[in-house]
Parts: sequence; structure tokens; C-alpha cells
Amino acid sequence: MATQKQSSSDEAKTNLETLILELPRERGWIVDQDIHLLNGFWYPTWVIHGLLALQQHFKPHPNDVLLASFPKSGTTWLKALLFSIVNRATFNHDDMMHPLLKSNPHELVPWLEVYASSNPTNPRPPESLLFHTHLAYSSLPEHIRSSSCRIVYVFRDPKDVFVSFWHFFNKLRPKESSSISLQEAFNQFSRGASPYGPYWDHVTGYYKASIQFPNKVFFVRYEDLKTEAVFHVKRLAEFVGWPFSEEEENEGVVQKITDLCSFDKLSNLEVNKNGSLIRNLPSTRWTVSVINKAFFRKGEIGDSNNHLSEDMREILNQITEDKFKEIGLTTFVPLVKTE
Ligand code: A3P
Repeated sequence: MATQKQSSSDEAKTNLETLILELPRERGWIVDQDIHLLNGFWYPTWVIHGLLALQQHFKPHPNDVLLASFPKSGTTWLKALLFSIVNRATFNHDDMMHPLLKSNPHELVPWLEVYASSNPTNPRPPESLLFHTHLAYSSLPEHIRSSSCRIVYVFRDPKDVFVSFWHFFNKLRPKESSSISLQEAFNQFSRGASPYGPYWDHVTGYYKASIQFPNKVFFVRYEDLKTEAVFHVKRLAEFVGWPFSEEEENEGVVQKITDLCSFDKLSNLEVNKNGSLIRNLPSTRWTVSVINKAFFRKGEIGDSNNHLSEDMREILNQITEDKFKEIGLTTFVPLVKTE
């Protein structure tokens, strides 16, 4: 029996490897991690393993909340905010034992693809209703799209996303792996063939879903959160089914949660200055130790101006305008008016 089970899992692995070999392939930003084009999006090998496991075996719960994002769009921030919002009955923001003071937000909100790639037949992380994914909307398991669970999507100006992503990969890169230059990474990002890209299709998929299913998909801009945090944190709490009561508002709870999750607060915690996460990436030879500090660089709007030439900025602005025009989305104007 055990041998039979073993051989069917070996067979599934071989089929998966054959499928991956047949997909179009590009260089990933960490050399050993090639990326593959699957149904319109470029994913690292281990993400495809996780994605297929999720599509086959993930069963959503109606109360699940899924945070979705293109990498470097504000995932860490949203993880902290959502964790604090949905767990505030258990963990008070003033509590010295609040989990955010001792753990990096990525430890508190599991990343579905990572978990699924290591647990392919049972890809639901235990004891959590709050998850995160970098998968595109069209790559999500059909069960998630058709269930009543809620999705929060954060998006950010692609120029800042690109610069943040490039810096992050350079910090993440094992010493023995060679680097990718800013120009080379830029060329890949702008033609859409970079990890999790094309950025524009990623954003468009979730944006269209948020228009079609406003009670299911909540779309928030990083820049709006930066400038009107309290207003958007309230909207976020309402959307995920944990609205702030009048009493909480009078007691300043929204402001306190916003402060707890702010860049200044989180980035200065011991755990985020000196701690690290260990990520085993199946199907690669890497065990990556991600220093928590790498998730907190500057946390500013417009830092790309310090790293990209005028030509590069113009190219990304033009692609963004062309791609988002037809869906009426702009990266430069608040999505929701605060008045
Ligand atoms: P920069 O590299 O531009 O500084 P992600 O969390 O999706 O990986 O995105 C990381 C980006 O979000 C980094 O941007 C990081 O500094 C910023 N960031 C992390 N925590 C933040 C917070 N609490 N508030 C605002 N920005 C934050």
C-alpha cells in the first residue's frame, strides 16, 4: 500500500516536472530560480508546485480573508494591519505581548504558495483564516474565486514596486548566485517577463474583479494608505467583517492600530531589525534565510525617482497609462475620495 502511494506521488512529481519543462522559461532574478510562463504569468518553479497543489486541494472557508498583492506593493504592511484588525478581540493593540511586537508580519500571516509547495496534498495552513498570496487573480484556485471568502488587494505605483523588488532580490540573493543589473531587471519587468509579472495584468485582474464583485474583492492603493491611513484602515476593517464600533473609534483604536503597524514602529522592533525567516524553496537548491530587515527599506512614495533615469520612469508611466486607460484605473489619483 505504502509502495503504491509512493509510486503515485513519484508519478505526479514526474508529470509536474515534465509540465514545467515544457513551459516558456526566462531567467529569474536569482539565477537558479528560472521563471515559467503559466497561463499568462511568470512564476518561479516552486510557485508553480504550490499553485497546482492549491488548485487541486485547497478548500476555502467562508470566513477566510486572502491578502493578494504583486510583490513589494505593501504586503508586509497589510499583513500587519489585517492581523491586528481581525485578532483585536484576542490581542489588544496596547498589549506588550502583542504578536506583532515579537514576530515579523510574514510569520503571522501564512503565504499560501510557500505552504502549499511543501504540503502539496494538504495545502491549507492550519489554525488560520488569514492568508496571503502573490498569485494573479486568474491563477487562484476556482474554489477561492467562487467561494464567499474575501480578498484584499493592495497595489502600488509600478516604478516604486520595481525599485523595491530589485533591492529586495539583491538582499535575498545567496552569495554564490550572480546578480542581475538594474537595467536588465528593468527590461524584464517592463516587458512583463519578471517574477509574478506582468505587473499590469496582475493589477488589472484584481481590479476588474473588484468592480464586478465589490463585496468580494477590496482594492486599496499603497499611496492612499500612506496619506489617509486611518480612513482606509476603517474601510478595510468593515470590508473584512470586523468594523470598528463607535466606542472603539472614540477610544482612538483605529489610530492606535495604524500606529502599531506603521513603518516607523515595525521597522524599529528588535525582531524586524535582527530576526530572519527561513524559507525552504522546494524544487530549488536554496534554503533562503530572509532577514526581516529586508521587508522594511524606506516605505516612501516616489523613491524610484532616486534610482530610475527619466527615460526609465517615462517608459513605465507610458506602459501604465496604456494598460490601465481602458479600465479607468490610474496610479496617480486616490481611488476613493476621503470626504
Ligand atoms: P520600499 O522598498 O520602497 O521601502 P512588501 O511588503 O509587499 O514586500 O513590500 C515592501 C515595501 O513596503 C518596501 O518598500 C517596504 O519598505 C514597504 N513597507 C514595509 N512595511 C511598511 C509599512 N508598515 N508601512 C509602509 N510601507 C512599508
